[in-house]
Amino acid sequence: MENKPRKRVLIPSLRGMRDILPEGQVYYHKFLKIAEKLVSLYNFKRIDTPILERAELFIKGTGAITDIVQKEMYTFRSKGGEWLALRPEGTPPVVRAYLEHGMISWPQPVKLYYYGPFFRHESPQAGRYREFRQFGLEVIGEKDASVDGEIILLTYRIIQKFGLKRNIVEINSIGCPKCRGKYKRLLTRYLTKHQMALCQNCRRRIKANPLRVLDCKEARCHPVIEAAPQIIDYLCQECHNHLKETLEYLDEAKIPYTLNPTLVRGLDYYTKTVFEIVQEGDEQKLSLAGGGRYDGLIKVYSRRDIPACGAAIGVERVIDKMKEELEKSGKPFLKEEKVQVFLVHVGDETRRKCFKILEDLRSANISSDAHLGKDSLKNQLAIADKLGASIVLILGQKEMVEKRILIRNMKTGHQDLIKIEKLIPKVKTLIKKKKK
Ligand code: HAM
Repeated sequence: MENKPRKRVLIPSLRGMRDILPEGQVYYHKFLKIAEKLVSLYNFKRIDTPILERAELFIKGTGAITDIVQKEMYTFRSKGGEWLALRPEGTPPVVRAYLEHGMISWPQPVKLYYYGPFFRHESPQAGRYREFRQFGLEVIGEKDASVDGEIILLTYRIIQKFGLKRNIVEINSIGCPKCRGKYKRLLTRYLTKHQMALCQNCRRRIKANPLRVLDCKEARCHPVIEAAPQIIDYLCQECHNHLKETLEYLDEAKIPYTLNPTLVRGLDYYTKTVFEIVQEGDEQKLSLAGGGRYDGLIKVYSRRDIPACGAAIGVERVIDKMKEELEKSGKPFLKEEKVQVFLVHVGDETRRKCFKILEDLRSANISSDAHLGKDSLKNQLAIADKLGASIVLILGQKEMVEKRILIRNMKTGHQDLIKIEKLIPKVKTLIKKKKK
């Protein structure tokens, strides 16, 4: 993990929650830049929803008997007595916003994306945090399988563009309420028959949510799961066609996928398509992204029957994987941008002039810094060196009176005494040369 605390402090950060230090920010910055550029090509618009919502939004939407709501949601009562939750996922809030802002009257479908922190009280381990960021996509108002195709394709492309290879889409259909009901009954009968071979958790799930048994990670349950009836064989014609069309779109875009008949996903609202993106050969099989169609969710909050489909990428998981790959291949880690100019002052009287020069540099879009609180020339030069500034400026008292300043190119060691009024164009030329 990038920033395990090294020192004990009186009040440490919470388990499963991390500080993102400046050296780690570059990855998030790069991810967001790539993702936002890509999604704008597909005409998605950004939406931000609050981090706090009414708990009821997730109880009704994500599902009262899901792990997320039952075990992982951070909830509390507000001073006003409302039952609130730190958002554990982004889909219900986006749907709420869609309804609340009358997006029904916008041209459909409405294509939205979001980026931000989410909270789940899970057992912290590699790739599983209590605060993590998601980059999510939601398309509301279209039932055609081309939307499922576009969501999967775009999610895949973002991860690929960030530099991760060996990604594969695992896909399944969990049908609609019509065909799923029949399958659920069949599955319940089968699981009840074999319940003694299942783990305790699964035995409990048979009644409450039999589909969830299918993605149990316990080895002892696997033989029963492998021999279980598969939903794909019980899909109604409409769901069958929808899956077929979605796969055809993926074939068209040459997105690698495998059908995973046990993929059901742990959220209640899915209908038809469900998918996850994982890395081939990853033993942990942590999903980098997950999503699917949720044609019934809007109806949970309104009387409207509006189809929708979406996905979310786990940003920490993608970044962790990228770092792992860089480490394995011996390639350098991403570096934060260094300050371009460091300004050194000699003597008390030069401070105010330096303050002004710094402001002029920054106004000209040149990143610059100085330590005006320090006096020793040696100390200031050592800081400039540590920061990796490519240009160092030195202003002494004599130079100030002569309206001149010393400019040193740290790469070549070359230095010049130039007029202060010519400083900005000179620095710009040096920076340009360095970039070439
Ligand atoms: P989800 O599968 O619960 O789906 O989360 C999406 C992604 O978030 C996961 O694939 C994973 O990469 C990341 N993730 C989840 N939990 C954690 C965690 N504890 N630590 C780190 N990363 C995590 C949803 O949230 C749905 N709202 C996706 C969606 C959008 N479906 C339709 N539209």
